Amino acid sequence: MNFEPIDPSSLSSLIKGRRTVKPAAMKKHSQVPDTVIREALENATYAPNHGKTQPWHFVVFSGEALQALNRFQANLYLETAGDSFLDSKFLRMKLQFETVAYSIAIGMKKDMRGNIPEWEEQAAVACAVQNMALTIANRGYGGIWSSGKNLNHPAMKKYVGLSEADLLLGWFLVGEIAIQPPVPPRHPLEMHVIWKVDSND
Ligand SMILES: Cc1cc2nc3c(=O)[nH]c(=O)nc-3n(C[C@H](O)[C@H](O)[C@H](O)COP(=O)(O)O)c2cc1C
Repeated sequence: MNFEPIDPSSLSSLIKGRRTVKPAAMKKHSQVPDTVIREALENATYAPNHGKTQPWHFVVFSGEALQALNRFQANLYLETAGDSFLDSKFLRMKLQFETVAYSIAIGMKKDMRGNIPEWEEQAAVACAVQNMALTIANRGYGGIWSSGKNLNHPAMKKYVGLSEADLLLGWFLVGEIAIQPPVPPRHPLEMHVIWKVDSND
């Protein structure tokens, strides 16, 4: 083993205790140390990935850059929403920076050698995001994977430096927790697991 095992009950408690924290449940003008974000990103890159492609691509926005991103996202929504446009959603997008301290674009760089199926590359990025979510939660901050709008819009991909072949899988938003979210119910294990094992009875 190339690490010192942590207390198993602490690990389970972190995994079970992590909760999605929406921007509305974050503190106004949240402050999150950049060391926490760096730690989360570093941990993200230790996720498993098939063929050593390391397909993740993160772009970190905060401060002025985050305000500009939120303006861009809101304006793109205005341009593309058509009849489904809602003023409230437009404003929520434009003013996201008022609570969120960091918005991290979750990108997947397409493997041009074409050896690895795209779903495996997406799965590797999702593993990376979970590493990030757990790190953020363990440091006492709130995070959410938000898919938002227009992820596949060419202008949005270009904004975060992704090519047409790459995928933007959402945003990881981080802030200080103002309102602890309720624990969402989980089904009993038996609903999702079938055991085919030898038993002693
Ligand atoms: C790929 C992915 C995309 C998500 N997108 C959104 C989203 O756009 N908006 C949102 O409110 N939550 C989003 N979520 C978070 C879920 O709503 C959240 O995980 C769920 O409510 C369970 O809560 P928990 O994370 O506290 O267990 C997303 C989660 C995943 C895995």
